[in-house]
Amino acid sequence: MTSIHAQRRQRFLERLGGVAAVIPAAPQVTHHADCEYPFRQNSDFWYLTGFDEPDAVALLLPHRPPGERFVLFVHPREASAEVWTGFRWGSEGAVEQFGADLAHPLSELAERLADYLSGAEGIAFRIGKHPQVEPLVLSAWARQLDRAPRTGVAALGLVAPCPMLHALRLRKQPEELERMREACRISAEAHERAREVVRPGLNERQVQAVIEQHFLEQGARGPAYGSIVAGGDNACVLHYTANNALLRDGDLLLIDAGCSLGDYYNGDITRTFPVNGRFSAEQRQLYELVLAAQEAAVATVAPGQTAEAVHATAVRVLVEGLVELGLLSGEVDGIIERGAYRHLYMHRTGHWLGLDVHDVGAYRLGEHPQELEPGIVLTVEPGLYVSDRLPVPEDQPAIDERWKGIGIRIEDDVAVTEHGHELLTAAALKAPAAMQRD
Ligand code: GLY
Ligand code: MN
Ligand code: MN
Repeated sequence: MTSIHAQRRQRFLERLGGVAAVIPAAPQVTHHADCEYPFRQNSDFWYLTGFDEPDAVALLLPHRPPGERFVLFVHPREASAEVWTGFRWGSEGAVEQFGADLAHPLSELAERLADYLSGAEGIAFRIGKHPQVEPLVLSAWARQLDRAPRTGVAALGLVAPCPMLHALRLRKQPEELERMREACRISAEAHERAREVVRPGLNERQVQAVIEQHFLEQGARGPAYGSIVAGGDNACVLHYTANNALLRDGDLLLIDAGCSLGDYYNGDITRTFPVNGRFSAEQRQLYELVLAAQEAAVATVAPGQTAEAVHATAVRVLVEGLVELGLLSGEVDGIIERGAYRHLYMHRTGHWLGLDVHDVGAYRLGEHPQELEPGIVLTVEPGLYVSDRLPVPEDQPAIDERWKGIGIRIEDDVAVTEHGHELLTAAALKAPAAMQRD
């Protein structure tokens, strides 16, 4: 993967102009006491380097001559540390395997940073996110400013690297789309397996185990986010991750789960189906409505459209259907304008997907919504959540008991193509007939 990272660095360096960028890796995060969470690399750092060790710092230095523009600071090789936490590449590996022009031990960052940044027109560094590295960057910058009256040069501004870097990350390269197809394939298969095993009396956690076992068996790192396995009314809690209730005969089961690959590309799929294999009349009506909204929203995904338009399509189909079912009343446009449907559908219809599950990239550029372009990947995930948690707006009907406890979401991952879109998660079935069994 080194060459793809080298191409990305080249494109990022071009965008930086004369500004030097400091991009830190993620640290290890403590779980409790001296135990740590499994390491998860920072996606910006990964995108540019493919280097999967904690605490490293990448410098991208467009103001330096070729052969000095990519510098990595890394943990050094050290037998006494590696015997505990495993192999490290060290400075030599950073140069030989990861294409760094120069590499140094992390302990030298404080003394070397100011020199490397010297001569840059500005410094691109994300303030507020990297507490270990931030004081070093600020102090290197301050030293330049202190000396500027005598040296005549200093980086004048501290800017955020995000707009430049995240505009690149938003548009996936063909190699990235290939990896996302793989993440979606594994994620879709896991949903199919889960539906095969679900029966009344199982615990939500047992279904989570089937899904996550499949992720691991297929070579993924594991779940891309906390898997949501939510029976019945639990599905009306959008970020339900307790996953410890028994699945009841007559309830629906909502599963929102996707895997993360070794190189951090993710799937993000939601399916909802009856625990006992048969929809009740109310469940089926709402399921068909969410599916109609989801399919209409997916159909709008094409170059020149916007995520806003995808959302608006889903909302309109949902509101029209809810009025027909008597769960909303009044004129559709007015209900949409007033948001008088939000006690039943309270989230957006999707998000960008990539190295981060809620991926980077602006949805709006000032007044203008970001237009969909080939290479952008987004989720399309409308739902309906019928419970007493949110108050019913004054002008809307009280909810009949027979609808309560029904939570449904249907989520696919969709890549924008030259002329339309590619449904990356088509292998996870969603037709009502496929959600049932005898
Ligand atoms: N699984 C998180 C989401 O759907 O946004
Ligand atoms: Mn999602
Ligand atoms: Mn999801």
